[in-house]
Amino acid sequence: MWLALLYGCAGGAALLYVLYRWVIPSVVQYHAGLALIWHDTIVEGLLNALTQTTRPQRLLAAVQKNATRGDPRSVVKAIDQFCRQKEWAMNVGDEKGCILDSVVTEVNPATVLELGTYCAYSTVRIASLLPPHAKLITLEFNPHNAAIARQVIAWAGLGDKIQLVEGASGDWIPKMKEKFAIETFDLVFLDHWKDRYLPDTKLMEECGLLRKGSILLADNVICPGTPDYLEYIRNSPRYKSQYFRSHLEYTKVEDGLEKSVFLG
Ligand SMILES: C[S@@+](CC[C@H](N)C(=O)[O-])C[C@H]1O[C@@H](n2cnc3c(N)ncnc32)[C@H](O)[C@@H]1O
Repeated sequence: MWLALLYGCAGGAALLYVLYRWVIPSVVQYHAGLALIWHDTIVEGLLNALTQTTRPQRLLAAVQKNATRGDPRSVVKAIDQFCRQKEWAMNVGDEKGCILDSVVTEVNPATVLELGTYCAYSTVRIASLLPPHAKLITLEFNPHNAAIARQVIAWAGLGDKIQLVEGASGDWIPKMKEKFAIETFDLVFLDHWKDRYLPDTKLMEECGLLRKGSILLADNVICPGTPDYLEYIRNSPRYKSQYFRSHLEYTKVEDGLEKSVFLG
């Protein structure tokens, strides 16, 4: 009787583990809503409660364990491995990250603004490709994420190239010229909350932060999606816009990046 109970419990636990580790992740990776609910709400909440740590802390621990200090590409690789093998996280990810890399390389910007740092995955990708003396300002309003991002940036050895500013985009965009001696940005990477893409783009226009030829690169335009931003940027005579089809980070759900050239 006790043996049967023991076998029953062990079998149940094994079944739950298989469901958690392989079955559910393989099913949800094709469905946007389910993927986000599973990875971003259920798994994150469960692991936070069980380990008494946060996802950014676990991601940082993976960087410190698996990446080489001063080697940005090893930091990116360690984060991608963590997100593919252990826990999904809302970085731009390896697939869309290659598109981001090619845009940064093509633009070769001297001034870059990133909206939404999270754990600095994309920040490290961008900064590692910048020419000497280029300036990257990244904005993050969550103090916990900002604290983790600073440590990831330091681990990658990119502290001198990146200025991480803690605060909300709507508050900082109007202060960019005065506080950071910025004339205009050559490249802006939009990857913060999706309902801010359009108001912040209009704010950057108003504040004179875009010049003829400035590039806006927006992540997640399909998933979770930014319909008002896409409607504006694709129909405004002030932009020439192009969609790069890809997938939501670490899944098979369609997502993509929108690259828009400001025409003045
Ligand atoms: C999708 S994550 C950024 C991912 C990051 N760019 C990467 O690829 O590694 C979005 C981040 O933007 C931050 N955020 C959202 N809205 C913001 C705002 N209005 N101002 C500053 N940060 C914001 C969130 O706290 C979150 O950390």
